[in-house]
Amino acid sequence: MASKTVLITGATSGIGAHTARLLLERGHRVVVTGRNESKLKLFLEDAGHPDRVLGLVSDAADWEATESAVTRTVEHFGALDAAVANAGFMTGDSIGDGDPTRWSPMVLTNVLGPALLAHAALPHLEATGGRLVLLGSVAGLKNSPGNLYSATKWATTGLAENLRLLATARGVGVTLINPGMIDTPFWEGVSVPPFALPPQPIAEAICFALDQPAGVDLNTLTIRPMGQPA
Ligand SMILES: NC(=O)c1ccc[n+]([C@@H]2O[C@H](COP(=O)([O-])OP(=O)(O)OC[C@H]3O[C@@H](n4cnc5c(N)ncnc54)[C@H](OP(=O)(O)O)[C@@H]3O)[C@@H](O)[C@H]2O)c1
Repeated sequence: MASKTVLITGATSGIGAHTARLLLERGHRVVVTGRNESKLKLFLEDAGHPDRVLGLVSDAADWEATESAVTRTVEHFGALDAAVANAGFMTGDSIGDGDPTRWSPMVLTNVLGPALLAHAALPHLEATGGRLVLLGSVAGLKNSPGNLYSATKWATTGLAENLRLLATARGVGVTLINPGMIDTPFWEGVSVPPFALPPQPIAEAICFALDQPAGVDLNTLTIRPMGQPA
């Protein structure tokens, strides 16, 4: 793929970090965001390629921070070819007996975040004929009892198609990537079953979406580990 500038939200660990590393290895320019400054610093030290990477402390659930991240990307690298709405997390509790005071940041990050990124990035992606990638989940295709995280990912499924309808008329592609269980810090404190995949196949799928030729809009990829029952 020709050298591109890619902004990835929540890329200091897991799928986002692996995608950023893969893109850097392949000669692209990458902007990574995260809320935690020390995690961001560690990622930047480890990733190398300081001439082609920019790290920004930025909350994906916040409009001003998101707008600023997109503006700084374009100022720093001259254009934006792709934006990856990857930031997301799961509180892991249930609507039935969970702690409602923990839910707002999850809903705002997982649902509002991709919409904010789309709004900020679309004019720049239109200028480059670029692509928006959203990280959904198998949890956004299947129901499970009392699972608010799953409902946020159902929202991502709907948002991706609504954005596709908007963006295709402007020459911008939209790809929804639905991972199954991936062994990342997302599952911190939970024992991950042996069939869980490492983040690399999802990072490769994101690169594949970004590598589509002009005129091709690749819309949905669902990637489960072999053996995942749901
Ligand atoms: N792992 C799985 O099994 C799985 C399966 C399906 C879908 N997904 C989805 O894949 C995406 C990436 O997950 P992952 O497994 O790579 O998780 P992860 O390893 O926990 O990484 C999440 C990243 O997002 C950042 N982040 C979280 N909230 C943020 C916010 N409001 N603003 C900016 N950055 C934020 C985190 O850094 P800070 O905490 O420093 O902000 C971190 O860099 C998520 O959308 C997740 O829902 C994961």
